Amino acid sequence: MSLKLRYMTLADIPQVVQIDRRSFRSAWSEKTYAYEIRESPYTFMVVIEERWPIPPARGWRRLWQFLTQVVPTTTENRILGYGGLWCIQGEAHISTIASHPDYRRRGYGEILLASMIQKSLFLEANQVVLEVRVSNVNAQRLYQKWGFVTAGIKEHYYHDDGEDAYDMRLPLDDSVRLTFPAQYSALIAQSGLDDEYTAFARTRG
Ligand SMILES: CC(C)(COP(=O)(O)OP(=O)(O)OC[C@H]1O[C@@H](n2cnc3c(N)ncnc32)[C@H](O)[C@@H]1OP(=O)(O)O)[C@@H](O)C(=O)NCCC(=O)NCCS
Repeated sequence: MSLKLRYMTLADIPQVVQIDRRSFRSAWSEKTYAYEIRESPYTFMVVIEERWPIPPARGWRRLWQFLTQVVPTTTENRILGYGGLWCIQGEAHISTIASHPDYRRRGYGEILLASMIQKSLFLEANQVVLEVRVSNVNAQRLYQKWGFVTAGIKEHYYHDDGEDAYDMRLPLDDSVRLTFPAQYSALIAQSGLDDEYTAFARTRG
């Protein structure tokens, strides 16, 4: 079994949309994800992927074991969480973030958030901003844990029910620039994730 942090691809969309629908009242469409992955020059979508070998049919186990010594193993994957980052003119904006409902409170939300902060630093953004429902206390805790502060309130921000949003911000000042990368490396090392998202430039899905 392996865990990877990488750019979202078109092939991830069906699983991502399922998580989205279970996580938000107004889910993004497949088309929106495809646009963000393939066309938007300002977007850096991320996923955490779990991958494991497909078990062989019973009677063929022995033969399979022999064959996998010489042919690549087939694998299956599961998306455990995803996030979206826009970066325009020095401002990074977290557009979305969710972990799979069956895999919450395992640190994946934190890894996704931290990876987007690290990406924002790499892109030389001055700050990271986001909106969060005033009722979404769990997400607010996550953002506060990583240094975000509430800068204001956006009234009736959400179209579906008119709920207000907090405007939360993390200024990427010198002290964050100095300390964050080491903090991020420690988090990734601890998680055992292979991080392709912050390590490589984006390629189209
Ligand atoms: C918010 C969300 C992404 C957190 O993901 P997660 O994988 O469960 O979070 P983590 O395990 O990484 O938790 C990190 C921190 O977030 C906070 N947190 C997350 N879930 C929490 C909960 N149920 N209760 C209290 N704090 C919580 C805590 O500060 C936690 O740190 P701790 O474990 O040291 O207490 C997840 O709940 C989710 O997908 N929610 C639905 C979508 C959503 O609301 N997205 C945010 C839109 S603005």
